[in-house]
Amino acid sequence: MIIREANIDDLAVIYQFFIVLEGTELDYHRFKEVFQKNLNDDQIYYVIAESDNIIVGFGSVHLHLLLHHIGMVAEIEELFVKEEYRLLNIGQALINELVNIAMKEDCELIELASNKLRTKAHGFYEKCGFKATHFKFTMPLKAIKNI
Ligand SMILES: CC(C)(COP(=O)(O)OP(=O)(O)OC[C@H]1O[C@@H](n2cnc3c(N)ncnc32)[C@H](O)[C@@H]1OP(=O)(O)O)[C@@H](O)C(=O)NCCC(=O)NCCS
Repeated sequence: MIIREANIDDLAVIYQFFIVLEGTELDYHRFKEVFQKNLNDDQIYYVIAESDNIIVGFGSVHLHLLLHHIGMVAEIEELFVKEEYRLLNIGQALINELVNIAMKEDCELIELASNKLRTKAHGFYEKCGFKATHFKFTMPLKAIKNI
């Protein structure tokens, strides 16, 4: 299994991962636009886990320069391992890579938010060394998933 940076050729597989992750259809053209834009953003890293030339996992980290930390903070925005490849330490390997990126970028902290309903993911993140220290509050402003 290797971990590598994502590129535009990974789009179709990652798009399918997000349909499973979000549990709904997603507008392919908008997804592609966002994917391409973010690939060109030097504050965003997309990484892939690949096993025998099959893409089996995806993770992302965004870097933010924050006043309340007076420095860089890394936020893991997305993490997904293909169902039949779970519990093989691929998620952990993706987290390790995202943490290494954050450390190289001199971040003070790495953090993530996870939906309250994803109770399995919470156990995983705790196993990886994250602590549940904050509440996250959200307010939907417009529908983004409609096709
Ligand atoms: C969460 C997810 C990325 C974990 O990936 P994974 O490859 O199955 O996890 P790993 O095999 O690397 O697990 C690493 C460690 O966490 C443990 N772990 C995994 N899932 C766990 C769970 N639900 N509860 C407690 N521990 C868990 C593993 O046992 C392993 O511990 P070990 O090293 O002692 O064996 C994967 O289950 C997934 O893609 N889920 C659906 C999408 C999702 O919820 N993403 C997160 C969005 S916030």
